[in-house]
Amino acid sequence: MGTIQLSGIGRSFKSTAAVRDIDLTIGDGEFVVLLGPSGCGKTTLLRMIAGLLEPTTGRILLDGVDITEQPSKKRDLAMVFQSYALYPHLSVRRNLAFPLKVQKLAKHDIERRVREVADVLEIGHLLDRKPRELSGGQRQRVAVGRALVRDPKAFLMDEPLSNLDAKLRTQTRHELTALHRRLGATFVYVTHDQVEAMTMATKIVVLDSGRIEQAGTPEEVYDRPESVFVAGFLGSPAMNLLDATVVGLDGTVAVTADGVAGDLWRGDTDDIDVVLGVRPEQLVVSATAPSGTGVNLLGRVEIVENLGGEQIVTCRVGASSVHVRTSRDLRVSAGDDVVLHAEPDHVHLFERASGRRLEWVADTEIAHAAAPASRASSSRPVSV
Ligand SMILES: Nc1ncnc2c1ncn2[C@@H]1O[C@H](COP(=O)(O)OP(=O)(O)O)[C@@H](O)[C@H]1O
Ligand SMILES: [Mg+2]
Repeated sequence: MGTIQLSGIGRSFKSTAAVRDIDLTIGDGEFVVLLGPSGCGKTTLLRMIAGLLEPTTGRILLDGVDITEQPSKKRDLAMVFQSYALYPHLSVRRNLAFPLKVQKLAKHDIERRVREVADVLEIGHLLDRKPRELSGGQRQRVAVGRALVRDPKAFLMDEPLSNLDAKLRTQTRHELTALHRRLGATFVYVTHDQVEAMTMATKIVVLDSGRIEQAGTPEEVYDRPESVFVAGFLGSPAMNLLDATVVGLDGTVAVTADGVAGDLWRGDTDDIDVVLGVRPEQLVVSATAPSGTGVNLLGRVEIVENLGGEQIVTCRVGASSVHVRTSRDLRVSAGDDVVLHAEPDHVHLFERASGRRLEWVADTEIAHAAAPASRASSSRPVSV
């Protein structure tokens, strides 16, 4: 078992609050990724879970037991660092055995456990080498192995792939996912890399300025970002975000901006200043505006980038740059005037003042996704 509960966790360094008031439950066997830009507090949070740093506020429970005051080595959690932190003068075998020697295990138990872990990670042939005789990927595996030998309740990893080149990073990502599946253990994994988060996590926790912006499955966070920050952080190219206004016109909710027009769904609304979001893969390029509902952006092609399997078309729409991901079959060139169309289901609206997602709630004839039953019925967008 390895359930970790954080309640009201915060940490300040002098006057700076690095982590603020975090409530989070990490379930047994989950692969939770703490994701956010540099300086958002990921390492600080992980170090508090590991017991390497004391929280200023809040409690940490491991399987229901309060471990807030417990020293790191008693916590039964294993940490893998970005720098690997291997002992340079010890062989791989002795690096792996080290945590078990500290636990005063019998010699033959240590040997058996080291062998088991070396098999799982396929590093048996490296046991007699020193860390300097290993490649980056091999060192990374030994660092994981050293966490694994202790059979901890949870693995805590701080950007463990950031020192690897792109190809090795992909391979090691697959290995870690497979390892998680095989062990069924709890993983808490820190990264600023949204691809790592999307591909490995069972739950992504997006952090900004020491706070949780959103926590959910990769699909939830990608498909239904709760704030402009989350919308802009996940996805490459990022979601297109344009200032716009939502208006009610003759029983239809519409959106307008410089170069942007379209009907979203039936209903009524006061004018609202919004940020309109559409992902690059959800814009369809055509020469003229299609009829029916949906948002149309009138753009002029500026750049067409061939990525081999697909292309990224950058268009000027009003004062904004808009990215579109398309098949290479689409023949467009710089200077072409185009219409970029998005279906209402693919349009994200955020209240400009708060940055929070607006969800459409209406009594009747909702062309959009059904409103959650728990919300009061009205025909105005509500901030979530
Ligand atoms: N030991 C420390 N002393 C002072 N400030 C720190 C210390 N550790 C982290 N910070 C500050 O706390 C914030 C969060 O840092 P960190 O947790 O390392 O972020 P991340 O891992 O997301 O890049 C940053 O502003 C950083 O400068
Ligand atoms: Mg960090």
